[in-house]
Amino acid sequence: MTDYYRNKVHYKELIATFDDILIQPGFTNFEPNEVDISTHLGSHKLNIPIVSAAMDTVTEEEMAIKMALLGGLGVLHRNCTYERQLEMVRIVKRARSFVIDDVATITPNEPIATAKYMMENYNISGIVVVDEDKKVCGIFTKRDIPFSDNDIKNGKIKNYMTKGVISIEPGASRQKALKILFESRKEKLPIIDKSGYLKGLITKKDLAPEFPLASMDNEGHLICALALSPKYPESTQAQEMLKEIDKYVDIFFIDVADFYKTADINGTNKLMDLLESNFVLGNIGTYEAAEHIITKCDFNEDKFIGLKVGMGSGSICTTSIQTGVGAPTLFATAQVADAIADYGSNISLIADGGFKNPGDLPKSLTVGADLIMSGHFFAGSTESPGYVDTIQGRKVKVYRGMGSKEARTVGYVSDRYTESSRMLPEGVSDYIPFVGDIDGVLLTLKEGLLNGMIYAGAKRITEMKKAKIGVVSYVGQRESRPHDLLSRY
Ligand code: XMP
Repeated sequence: MTDYYRNKVHYKELIATFDDILIQPGFTNFEPNEVDISTHLGSHKLNIPIVSAAMDTVTEEEMAIKMALLGGLGVLHRNCTYERQLEMVRIVKRARSFVIDDVATITPNEPIATAKYMMENYNISGIVVVDEDKKVCGIFTKRDIPFSDNDIKNGKIKNYMTKGVISIEPGASRQKALKILFESRKEKLPIIDKSGYLKGLITKKDLAPEFPLASMDNEGHLICALALSPKYPESTQAQEMLKEIDKYVDIFFIDVADFYKTADINGTNKLMDLLESNFVLGNIGTYEAAEHIITKCDFNEDKFIGLKVGMGSGSICTTSIQTGVGAPTLFATAQVADAIADYGSNISLIADGGFKNPGDLPKSLTVGADLIMSGHFFAGSTESPGYVDTIQGRKVKVYRGMGSKEARTVGYVSDRYTESSRMLPEGVSDYIPFVGDIDGVLLTLKEGLLNGMIYAGAKRITEMKKAKIGVVSYVGQRESRPHDLLSRY
């Protein structure tokens, strides 16, 4: 057993949390602009290792779209019907794309006048020409329209179109499309499959990176993640709905307080057979749970891409005080990171909940996390669901735990906790200060992370895992904050 990360947090003596430790400063032999905070979740690259929580006062479509545009990820909550979940994933997946699916086409024997009419009325500058078998045989653009009215009226597309169309194969990357467009000096690139059928169209205009850090799939759609109960739905109707939802989802996040249970593991295995997307499993809190999941559960290796950890340390959580059981996020991260390292697994580790300050992010990466998830940082933003209220002159929004009475009343998350338990809430609902758009929140978090990495002497997240940490005494904790000032007694 490595005990590498566990020793880092003095595992044997202490269930440590963020305030208990500090990262020791390291040697910095690089410039600030060389620091790279990008990370991976399975095959998905994220330019910012930050994820918004699957909670009904944190992530619906507006948050998920904005998080992905800015380089992170938002996990849509599941405290609603499958119909509403389908609506949310569709909106996120369709929000951005550099591929036009619904391409206007024309046939070779149609008159130029028809193409001209289509261009003027659909506001397009080029039309793909397809033959009777629906195979691509040319492209006709505004530049191909003849000058004379007679030719426009009587001329046929086949005599004016460009044959030998420069195209690209389905699923090709944005970089490849840009390269072909540049080399051919074209504005439009039809996507044509091996059999010659049209599968979409890429235009130079749509490839321009308005959000250069955005988390995107190969077609330029935003990466879409959704929370999922580990319970396998018995009705065929529910299974069909899940399959429909699956079409728009890249990553399902199994969403339970404690995943280390036979029933949840078995249910998830069946769900992995039913659905095509990737899966992040959780939450868990110990080395043993991770070891069991990695070595004894036969999860589909291609689909199982991540583990989410932390139990009871979220800002709205009461699981630890209600049940006496918990695994604060820093402790859980160190434990699970050791198991992942011991078994040579390449799954990603997501540290979930309990983050209070930007400095908690570099701390969690140092004990082994690849990404962090938070509800607390984002619940008070413009993009979270709900209204801005005013209390004693301060703008606020509601933030509630998914185990709170208020969230459970909606009715879809009772299986997130012990299902038979009806009376015991494991979360609270409260107001949280309104913080404006998440752009500002993410900027602060990114800077805390970047500066922490610079002080620690780590250029990348993988190097951050080698940084040393130390446990801080109670007096040291007091000294780490502003102190002995008039307003701070
Ligand atoms: P933060 O600290 O960001 O934590 O508010 C968010 C994470 O907390 C988990 N969560 C809960 N845990 N009772 C709990 O014990 C709850 O009611 C509850 N609601 C959410 C969840 O993992 C989330 O990402």
